[in-house]
Amino acid sequence: MKILFVCLGNICRSPAAEAIFHKKIQDLSEQPTVYESAATSNHHNDEPADERMRAALAGYGYETISRSRQVCRDDFQTFDLILAMDQQNYRSLIRSKPEDSLSKIKLICEYSDMEYTEVPDPYYGGSEGFDIVIKILENCIDRIINEHFNQ
Ligand code: 4NP
Repeated sequence: MKILFVCLGNICRSPAAEAIFHKKIQDLSEQPTVYESAATSNHHNDEPADERMRAALAGYGYETISRSRQVCRDDFQTFDLILAMDQQNYRSLIRSKPEDSLSKIKLICEYSDMEYTEVPDPYYGGSEGFDIVIKILENCIDRIINEHFNQ
């Protein structure tokens, strides 16, 4: 199962998802998986994650080292599951998906049992927005691992 986490800039929410997933799968006996993150936009291409996001992640023991890249055509062949952080990213992915792609595109919050249906964009808000992103993603990722990776 290969998973791609996608947001608008690939500097806040999707690198956080990748970092949280990375830490949580360390506890599994087998880790037969590929996981990355990417952006629907190219505005932050090759930038590291936003330092506010990195600081918030570090507070919970997560680390992200990825750099931003845009979703590309190959991703729709490589990844089994492409998880969008919000409706805007979801619609953009559906529009870009080639006809022969077998990738499943979903909103990551389909896995959440919290009240959120999207992961809110923290970029223009205060520091509490970054903590909320982490809480929502932890909840989704626990359930993703239970559903797809529990041996
Ligand atoms: P992300 O957050 O999509 O979670 O990486 C954003 C990053 C940058 C911008 C918006 C959202 N921006 O407008 O530059």
